Amino acid sequence: MGIIKEHFGKTVSGIDVDKFILSNANGIEITIITYGATITSIIAPDKFGNFEDIVLGYDDISSYESGNKYFGAVIGRSANRIEKGRFAINGKEYRLAQNDNTNHLHGGIVGFDKVVWTAEKVDSADNQLKLSYFSPDNEEGYPGNLKVSVTYTVTDDNKLIIAYEGICDKDTLVNLTNHSYFNLTGEGSKQVLNHKLFINSDEYTPIDNNSIPIGYLSSVIDTPMDFRQLKYIGSEIESGFQQIQIGQGYDHNWMLNSKGDINTLASRLIDEASGRVLEVYTTKPAMQVYTANFLDGSDIGKGNIVYPRRSAVCLETQFVPNCINCDNFPSPILKCGDKYNHCTIFKFGTL
Ligand code: GLA
Repeated sequence: MGIIKEHFGKTVSGIDVDKFILSNANGIEITIITYGATITSIIAPDKFGNFEDIVLGYDDISSYESGNKYFGAVIGRSANRIEKGRFAINGKEYRLAQNDNTNHLHGGIVGFDKVVWTAEKVDSADNQLKLSYFSPDNEEGYPGNLKVSVTYTVTDDNKLIIAYEGICDKDTLVNLTNHSYFNLTGEGSKQVLNHKLFINSDEYTPIDNNSIPIGYLSSVIDTPMDFRQLKYIGSEIESGFQQIQIGQGYDHNWMLNSKGDINTLASRLIDEASGRVLEVYTTKPAMQVYTANFLDGSDIGKGNIVYPRRSAVCLETQFVPNCINCDNFPSPILKCGDKYNHCTIFKFGTL
């Protein structure tokens, strides 16, 4: 129990990166590095008491620096895509870095996943690690000096509580998430299509050919997007349903029926073989589900494991992608001096 600090490595530019291992009374161990405030491993028991690492990642800092898959990182200032990298606040247009064809993706070329955060508080008694980052005005094109922090807490009832906070000196856009790639069999097991998924949602946001939500909601009923009952991720992923074809699998945003209530289950992921269960609770209104369709075996992960396509699933709690350019959804604007607050809980259990 408690927190262990170790040196993880040095960035190419010579900045030291530390790693912190947070553990609880039941033997769960979660490792976080200061680079990208990234979760590099989550070691959790199965129903027989065997421990495995259930998130994808790398062993060394240089792979995190050169990689472009966002394994375990905090994503900011804005998760997912912003169409053409453009938006306006108070009538003023801003242009962001375009790093996904003409779109802006996951905070830009140097997003929050590619910077070193400061360990501001390491509290072993409470199993709590607070990392902070100062994002200067105009970074990747975003307005305002933003002070942001993420606090990770590991509890003895097997929760990882992720609390995000932010404050800015101009009206800006903030939409943070965590980009962990889960595989509940173990990160080396190479497939996730045999996991069952529940999403507490009746509606999703259909996307255009550039993976930008078109701007309206569609019912999940009678479509492969329906996860209102636990369903194998793989059961309809090869269907001819146009939305799945565009996403090359699941890469879509669902509106959560939990509607920002942290006590209402947003999603549940189950691996029947190991019996591991992951539950998601969040104050955010929506969740992007991404079935790692763009993994292609080119990433050499921990212990030299190659991660093939669809060997994990990301459950990214957030605002609707590109909602800054759309009036139909909750707004991601953070007003000057207001506090950004967002909490997401990953709860680890067994069947
Ligand atoms: C998100 C996006 C995907 C992809 C991954 C990272 O989930 O929706 O399209 O960019 O991140 O590879």
